[in-house]
Amino acid sequence: MLSQPTREEKHFPKDKILVTKTDLKGRITYANREFLDIVGLSEAQMIGQPHNLIRHPDMPKVVFYYLWEFLQKGVEINAYVKNLCANGAYYWVMANVTPSFDLKGSIIGYHSARRNPEAKALEKVKELYTKLLEAEKSGGLAQSRQLMQKLLEEKGMHYDEFILSL
Ligand SMILES: Cc1cc2nc3c(=O)[nH]c(=O)nc-3n(C[C@H](O)[C@H](O)[C@H](O)COP(=O)(O)O)c2cc1C
Repeated sequence: MLSQPTREEKHFPKDKILVTKTDLKGRITYANREFLDIVGLSEAQMIGQPHNLIRHPDMPKVVFYYLWEFLQKGVEINAYVKNLCANGAYYWVMANVTPSFDLKGSIIGYHSARRNPEAKALEKVKELYTKLLEAEKSGGLAQSRQLMQKLLEEKGMHYDEFILSL
């Protein structure tokens, strides 16, 4: 449904938030107008699809590894994500992804609110993701996890703390 990635970058206004909700498996159950507009798909095309539909090949696997690890523990996570549009373009977001609970405390789905990333932070993120991708090319997820772990130890920070410090 989505074209091959191109070098075209899309931007969205600072006052917009791109929202999706998913079920426990990451299948999209809700997408707001702003999200549909930037991706370039209709609601009918989007609902029910797995969220990796818009996965960009430039994204290191380790970011999604952390995302699912946090969410399944019931903890929210912040992540910089490069996403794919239907026409092959891309856009960067700073996503805050949270679990949704029922009244008994069971996780019933997930929610992502994406904002415009700060340019200064994005420069650091691009540098980091290039290194993580290189690690994944040579040694898979195990190697990028190791690299990330080493970096966090050097900084004396947890993953989310580090992301928010960028
Ligand atoms: C609420 C929620 C929002 C997500 N948003 C995105 C997103 O914007 N882009 C993305 O590539 N993956 C997103 N994911 C993660 C995907 O489910 C998936 O783990 C990721 O695309 C990696 O796919 P892969 O393991 O098939 O490579 C989201 C997951 C959840 C639960």
